[in-house]
Order: sequence, then structure tokens, then C-alpha cells
Amino acid sequence: MSTGHPELVAAIASEIAASGPIPFVRFMELALYHPQFGYYMRSPESPQERIGWRGDFYTSSDVHPILGQALAKQAEQMYRLLGQPHPFTIVEMGPGKGLLAKHILTTCAHRYHSFFQHLRYVLIDRSPAMRELQRRNLAPWLNQPGLLAWEDDLAIMAPQGLNGLFFSNELVDSFPVHRVQVTTKGIEELWVDYRDGRFVERLMPLSSETLVHQLRRVSTDWPEDYRTEINLRASEWMEQVAQHLDRGFVLTIDYGHTAQDFYRPERKHGTFLCYFRQSINEDPFLRVGEQDMTTHVDFSSLAETGEEQNLRTTGFTNQMSFLMGLSVEQMIAELEQDSPQFNAAIHLLRPNGMGTTFKVLIQHKGIQQPELDGLQYKPFFGSALTAQSAA
Ligand SMILES: C[S@@+](CC[C@H](N)C(=O)[O-])C[C@H]1O[C@@H](n2cnc3c(N)ncnc32)[C@H](O)[C@@H]1O
Repeated sequence: MSTGHPELVAAIASEIAASGPIPFVRFMELALYHPQFGYYMRSPESPQERIGWRGDFYTSSDVHPILGQALAKQAEQMYRLLGQPHPFTIVEMGPGKGLLAKHILTTCAHRYHSFFQHLRYVLIDRSPAMRELQRRNLAPWLNQPGLLAWEDDLAIMAPQGLNGLFFSNELVDSFPVHRVQVTTKGIEELWVDYRDGRFVERLMPLSSETLVHQLRRVSTDWPEDYRTEINLRASEWMEQVAQHLDRGFVLTIDYGHTAQDFYRPERKHGTFLCYFRQSINEDPFLRVGEQDMTTHVDFSSLAETGEEQNLRTTGFTNQMSFLMGLSVEQMIAELEQDSPQFNAAIHLLRPNGMGTTFKVLIQHKGIQQPELDGLQYKPFFGSALTAQSAA
């Protein structure tokens, strides 16, 4: 079985040779985002497609445009609630192939003419290869004055002043994470070493004070050998988003849990997974740079960080309830029953699949507690995110 992309393996091995073992978070950063050889940074179609039915994994936008259509409807309501600002900016982070942007723009142009006149859509993706693919998929809109813009890093965008919606789908699960394990010495961190031509794990002390602090927030009665992940980048990202938003909303879709569920003692192996050609494995040292790596999202940490930054939690729901709240049954009724299109749309709603594994967190700033259609149906109690957060 391949160790991975040869130049990438050599680059990581040489960093380890120069400075010793690296924390897993650094290994994951290089495997996914090494500027030349990282999984997301190389051409996304060569030699093997990454995202899509023929790729390593697929996302909602590969399944059916209905999520983009529902998001357009939700964004238009947000625009009205904010008093129809000009421009209303949608910032989409980690757009991947740009299919959701395409579905949102198409829906706005056809159904929400007035909103579309005021819409500005900014795509932020750290991968130049992905940005290129987004441009291709958004070709029909490229010449529309003032509509589209691209950035490669939120940190370099002018801070504040933004009215509108920060939105992401499956972004946070792709952030590099720290991995920790309970041992006889307490909680230790997974570091990565390179021995005899192979990457190997080493359990060593925690690499940062921030990690120690976050572990104090989430760790409970974990048994020995308990393994889990801490996504510090997710909280940093939420802070940055809050600082850039003047008035408006943050809408985050991803697979994940409340902290209490994520870090419960029974979840002994954490949520880390690798994806290769639509199958999963748990070995990050295989096919390095040629398979995706991902973890579930701790939505409580996102909500708590938001609250610390004046982002109020509007609500937390799952994808099925979100879509139902936005009347997707009417959109589905327009499709021929049992057609491939119909079945694909239903796939996004499945109560034992994408409908419930995917969660939707909405936060707001600069507006009184808004009533949003996407949050009409609440499968969780109002305070689920914070009340259940582990001590
Ligand atoms: C799993 S894909 C997202 C798929 C896409 N949103 C969809 O719905 O199909 C993750 C994307 O996030 C991008 N990404 C990861 N970290 C990022 C960051 N810090 N800033 C911007 N983009 C990032 C990756 O380059 C990749 O395009």
C-alpha cells in the first residue's frame, strides 16, 4: 500500500529529520495543505478527482441543488430582516468545487430578482487549485459587475464592515486537529515521527497551553486509552469570522455534535477518519496527500467562541429540519416521483443519514433575536449547545 505522494512524504520526512517529531496537527496541515503537494492544493482532478461521485468523497452539493436552493431562500430572508442592505455580502468559506455557490446564485437570479441586484458573493478558499475549479463552475457569472470576488485568506480581508452572511459547508471538518489520548501519565498528544521509511505515532506531552486550556473545557470521565481530537483552528476561525462581521449571520453546516455528545466517554476512538475513493479508513499514514482526512465538529465550542465575540446563537438544528423549515417539500413536489432527481433530493433529508448527521448552526450579530424559517423545527432543546457542554 502506498505511503503517499512521494514529494509530500519527502517534505514531511525532512521537516521531522530537521526538528524531531511533529504534533499530529502539523502532519495533517502538511498532508492536506502543503503549498505544492497537499491533498487539497494539487489540481483537484489529477490524477484522481477529489470531491464528487467519482472522487474520494461527495458533499451535499454533489447530490442535488436543493440545499443551495434552500440556502438562497434563507439568505433572502436574512437580507430582509437586516433591512435590505446594499450590498448584502455572502462570504462562502471553503467552497470546494463551487457548486453550492452556483446553485445559490442560480436560484437568486431566477427567484429573488431584487435580492440578486444587491448581492455580492465572496469565495474564500486557501487552495489555488480549488479556486480555479470554482471559477470554471461559476463561469456564467464572471462578467456580472461587482457580483463575484475571490480571496485566499479571511485574515487578509479588511476587518469589519461586512453586512450579510458568512456561510460554510464542510469547511470546519477539514481543519487540521490535535489528537490526544489518555495514558497512565494523564492526557498525552499524538506526535508523528518518521522511522525506516514510514510515519509512526508517538505519544508525548501536550504541545501548547491553548490545548491544555481547551482540554480542561471538554474532558470528562475519559477511560484509559480514550482517544479524541481538539480542533483549535475552529475556534480561531470563529473569532476571525466574528471580527469581520458588522451585522448579519454566520451559518455553518457540517457533521458534528454538541460537546457533551462529542466527548462522551463511550466515544473511545474519537471521530478522525480518512476518505479514499468513497471508502473510509483510520490510517493517516497511508496514501499521505492522496486521501482526505477529517473529523466531526464540536458545535458547542463554535457557539461558545461566538458568544465570547458578540455572536449570539440564533439556533442549532439538523439538515433535515433546516430543509423542511425552508419548505423543501414544495421544491421536491415539483420533481417526478421516484426519478433519480427525486431520490437524490430525498437523500439529503434521510433521518438515518445526511438529514441528521449534518447539523446547522446559525449565529447573528447586530440584530435582535431573529426568527428564521430554517430554524422553525428544532430537534434539540434551545440551550442544547451550551447546557450540554462538558464541564
Ligand atoms: C471538504 S471541502 C468543502 C466542500 C464544499 N464546501 C462543498 O460543499 O462541496 C473543504 C474546502 O475548504 C477549503 N479550506 C480548508 N481550510 C480553509 C481555510 N482555512 N480557509 C479557506 N478555505 C479552506 C479547502 O481548500 C476545500 O476546498
